[in-house]
Amino acid sequence: MKVFISGTIAPVGLKQLEENNLTITQWKENRQITAEELIEACKDQDALISVGPNKLNAEFLNACKHLKVIALHSVGFDQVDLDTAKKLNIPIGNTPGVLSSATADTAFLLMLAVSRKAFFSHKKIIRGDWKNYEPSPELGIEVNGKTLGIFGLGKIGLEMAKKCAAAYQMEVIYHNRSRNEDAEKEIGAKYVSFEELLAQSDVLSVHTALTSETKDKFTLDVFKQMKPNSIFINTARGGIHNEKDLIKALEEKMIWGAGLDVTNPEPMDKNNPLLAMENVAVLPHIGSATEETRAAMAKIIVQNIVEGLKGEQLPFEVW
Ligand code: DGY
Repeated sequence: MKVFISGTIAPVGLKQLEENNLTITQWKENRQITAEELIEACKDQDALISVGPNKLNAEFLNACKHLKVIALHSVGFDQVDLDTAKKLNIPIGNTPGVLSSATADTAFLLMLAVSRKAFFSHKKIIRGDWKNYEPSPELGIEVNGKTLGIFGLGKIGLEMAKKCAAAYQMEVIYHNRSRNEDAEKEIGAKYVSFEELLAQSDVLSVHTALTSETKDKFTLDVFKQMKPNSIFINTARGGIHNEKDLIKALEEKMIWGAGLDVTNPEPMDKNNPLLAMENVAVLPHIGSATEETRAAMAKIIVQNIVEGLKGEQLPFEVW
């Protein structure tokens, strides 16, 4: 059986695919494969491992309805037209759980980087502008003992909450479509309305999936309801905040700072005004990019592919 991989996966995954006697073809160029190229590449394949943001929309799925399984190299599946996949009976697998801690680490890193203006200060050294010791350079703010608001308290949100509660005794509030009573018990998180989340959070960290309900959720009207000294963090999907509105909210000091691992579009343009702001830290979607997590993701992907090719239920199926 043949498997097409539209990018890079951890070596352990390639090895395990080979051990299962699968013939691998891999996209190796240093750019995202285009929609047309992906259709062409999948023409004579049995399975696809989809790496990156390629849209697996109705056009793609109808053109590739012969695929027996698609394994996503992500926990997020907003790039897939699930209704069409279901209609065509193509099972879709993802990689939940194993990337929660690494992604929460990225949110935690961004929170600290923003609060201490770390990226801005780093750029100052690179420019040669570190001339002497200044006791009051562009001052940061501290997160110790402050209130962390989680928008979307699932696995990743819970990891972020645990890290912030343990490291900085932060009080955790959250807003979800439904209450997460396990998390309430585990870390004493308090469920609040969306409006209360905005009004009370010192750090507001987004961990929800991108859906029709969460798309463009953070607009100017929403940023206006946040504290002027608050920090907005998004490691989920760039489509959840409106980028123009975020820029305006920062320029007009409606919020204090922002840390993003996801942007809209991706990649972000190098001249984006966010990159020049003091209180902003941006990373190129590296949320789960660690050796350990990529290896764990690759192993799940192989399980999904192997079971899917046998016509069995995927161990990690998205519906
Ligand atoms: C995920 O797993 O969804 C990451 O954001 C990679 O896309």
